[in-house]
Amino acid sequence: MSRIALLLVVLASSAAVVAATGGGELKHIHLYMHETFSGPNATEGGIVASPFNSTFGQVAVFDNELRAGKDRASPLVGRYQGFIVGTGQSSPGYLTSATVAFTAGEFNGSTLSVEGPFFSFADTAERSIIGGTGKLRLARGYYLLKLLGKTSPETAVSEVDLFVLMYGSTH
Ligand SMILES: *[C@@H]1O[C@H](CO)[C@@H](O)[C@H](O)[C@H]1NC(C)=O
Ligand SMILES: *[C@@H]1O[C@H](CO)[C@@H](O)[C@H](O)[C@H]1NC(C)=O
Ligand SMILES: *[C@@H]1O[C@H](CO)[C@@H](O)[C@H](O)[C@H]1NC(C)=O
Repeated sequence: MSRIALLLVVLASSAAVVAATGGGELKHIHLYMHETFSGPNATEGGIVASPFNSTFGQVAVFDNELRAGKDRASPLVGRYQGFIVGTGQSSPGYLTSATVAFTAGEFNGSTLSVEGPFFSFADTAERSIIGGTGKLRLARGYYLLKLLGKTSPETAVSEVDLFVLMYGSTH
């Protein structure tokens, strides 16, 4: 390997380290997810039955509200739109894939692509932030989703903490 090729390899690997450790700002976005299970304004449903007489293969869609507070009357900040699929063949397990689409505030018009597992309502779900658009381009990170409880027979609220590592220019 020539010296120049070696230098390029060294430069490339040190640039990767900078990007992986020093290049990002960790941003915490704290929101509440409001869901409606039934009725004309349901925000989730359409469950496709499993072909296996279990949860394996079930599919449901959701378009839940992301609001600034626990109160349903608090400002709408975005939508949490995606689907959940039963992916556990012998044990309960689901995969969620969704878009966090901001419709107000600092990130209005930008989105985050998120995905990861769901095992139980009792636990805090942790999932990955795998990308973004607009001001959130190249975003990475994780988020925590915890069901706080039902707010009526047909509605529930969950707390959402997004930890977003934003790389490079966000402009
Ligand atoms: C559904 O939403 C519409 C439009 O926001 C509203 O007028 C209506 O009252 C809602 N219906 C129910 C049952 O909440
Ligand atoms: C479906 O699963 C349930 C619970 O495991 C079982 O009781 C039932 O017999 C199954 N039905 C069929 C058609 O396999
Ligand atoms: C969000 O952005 C859209 C499109 O630019 C704009 O129409 C809307 O007024 C903005 N909403 C808020 C709450 O800033």
